[in-house]
Amino acid sequence: MSINNKASDMVAVLKEYDNFIRPYHDAINEVVLRLQALNKDYKIKSNHNPIHQIQHRVKSLDSIVKKLDKRGYSTDLECAKEYLTDISGVRVICYYNQDVYTVAKALKKWKDMEVVRESDYIQEPKRNGYRSLHMIIVVPVHYIDSTEYYPVEIQLRTMTMDCWASIEHQLHYKSIANTSGITDELKQHADNLHMIGLQMEALYEHYLKGKNIDFSRSTKKVQMPAENDADAINRIAQQIRQDIENDTTHLEATGIKSNDNRHSEDSESTSADNKNEALKNTSDDIIQNHDTSQTGVTNKL
Ligand code: GTP
Ligand code: MG
Repeated sequence: MSINNKASDMVAVLKEYDNFIRPYHDAINEVVLRLQALNKDYKIKSNHNPIHQIQHRVKSLDSIVKKLDKRGYSTDLECAKEYLTDISGVRVICYYNQDVYTVAKALKKWKDMEVVRESDYIQEPKRNGYRSLHMIIVVPVHYIDSTEYYPVEIQLRTMTMDCWASIEHQLHYKSIANTSGITDELKQHADNLHMIGLQMEALYEHYLKGKNIDFSRSTKKVQMPAENDADAINRIAQQIRQDIENDTTHLEATGIKSNDNRHSEDSESTSADNKNEALKNTSDDIIQNHDTSQTGVTNKL
């Protein structure tokens, strides 16, 4: 095959993917615009914007192929359209637990978009501690003389849930070591972070909304150092930093063995020997951030 032929083949593949992926981008844009409008409306009407940040991505071609392969489907774009519901992904990061449900309830009212699946991993967290509210909604995309419907996966979570999920995702998919030894520790962090999130929410309810809350009962639930003072926390922080500086000591202390046998419960790049792939192609990585905490929209590409 001549170089010219190869180039034209490549252009044809890229064009096909471009045409395929375009409506998924359009579906995301529809959803993001509505969420931004919703957030502004809440800000004006209740003086609180429930959404801190909106992130979105379309699944990379590489991830699409891997997922189809993993599920036993043939790896072509027709199958992707038929079987994958998370090619468009939007992540909504809220301030508080109740904000997640406020936004979820509002988007269920959108008349032309239908929620076809909902998984509440906040009410029932995954075994590893993962929390989020997942929805698949079907979004109409209007073209010159047709309307087509595309699924968008929406993940709604609080900032503390997002903190945990982002770090856990990195640890599992990009780790150079086997992370199975820290499952219990991660679960504990997930539960603690959730509890801290709820305590912050109680502060919001009390100081911003004037609710009467008995803080002495809820603060006891978080497993913080017994003394619970700044000195104790600083001591632990110093110890952790020292452990990290001691390099291998830290790996041994946490029971992490330096092999490549990572597991991933929900990964789109599940293959254990795909570390380099995962590094260069963060398939599930969100590529756009809309920071809605201020009035404007920050696009951090
Ligand atoms: P996928 O094939 O991964 O889409 O699984 P699914 O269709 O059964 O959906 P599920 O609701 O389990 O997960 C969908 C997405 O949620 C994943 O692609 C991740 O972005 C996120 N997710 C689910 N579980 C976890 C988890 O344990 N940790 C992290 N960090 N993210 C998770
Ligand atoms: Mg997914």
